[in-house]
Amino acid sequence: MPFVIAIVSQKGGSGKTTLAVHLATRAAQAKFESCVIDTDPQATAAAWGDWRGDFLPVVVTAPPARLGRTIESAKKNKVDFIVIDTPPHADAAAREAIKAADVVLIPTKPRAFDLHALEPIADLVSFAKKPAYVVLNAVPSGATILAKDARSIAQEMGLDVCPVELGDRAAFHRSSAKGETAVEVKPDGKAAKEIEALWKWLKKKLD
Ligand SMILES: Nc1ncnc2c1ncn2[C@@H]1O[C@H](COP(=O)(O)OP(=O)(O)OP(=O)(O)O)[C@@H](O)[C@H]1O
Ligand SMILES: [Mg+2]
Repeated sequence: MPFVIAIVSQKGGSGKTTLAVHLATRAAQAKFESCVIDTDPQATAAAWGDWRGDFLPVVVTAPPARLGRTIESAKKNKVDFIVIDTPPHADAAAREAIKAADVVLIPTKPRAFDLHALEPIADLVSFAKKPAYVVLNAVPSGATILAKDARSIAQEMGLDVCPVELGDRAAFHRSSAKGETAVEVKPDGKAAKEIEALWKWLKKKLD
């Protein structure tokens, strides 16, 4: 059985695609046959895959209604680590991804309007009874109080919060723009360390 991770958030630009490609690439480095299923009509993860070329992870696109079938065919192709990237403002797509997932990750910036947008996702994951974790993303350096408040707000909505948070780091967008990841362009940088910590945490949750 493959591990299936869904990355959802109703808010645009919260870091879904960034998280999806970074985790899938880290999984590939750990010798998983990893794959990103991009259910976003904007196909940003797929574009990243095109820029990347012939390296893992494989990136495929699928409309939400085809997600189940796409996962089945990935399994047949021996894929054992699947990350589902989803569009913003799309309840049905989020619902399908959550249904298929072992673990749901919800990236959000630690800002009031972004946190407010967690509410519908909190309802979806609690209804689906899936383990789900908010991942604070693009946290400005030194913003410890902001991050702490964001954690409390998410917890008040009944959501768990991942202990690892990702800073606001150029390495994330610079690397993605080239079809790479922060770990690949700057292996000893802070962004790389954060992805490593996130990966270790996620692996424990899956095992
Ligand atoms: N931690 C971060 N530090 C710096 N830049 C980031 C970080 N996370 C994401 N970005 C940048 O912010 C922008 C939006 O990120 P991304 O595309 O991953 O969000 P998204 O949730 O997938 O957006 P959409 O909802 O439009 O699909 C991108 O340019 C990305 O490179
Ligand atoms: Mg995206």
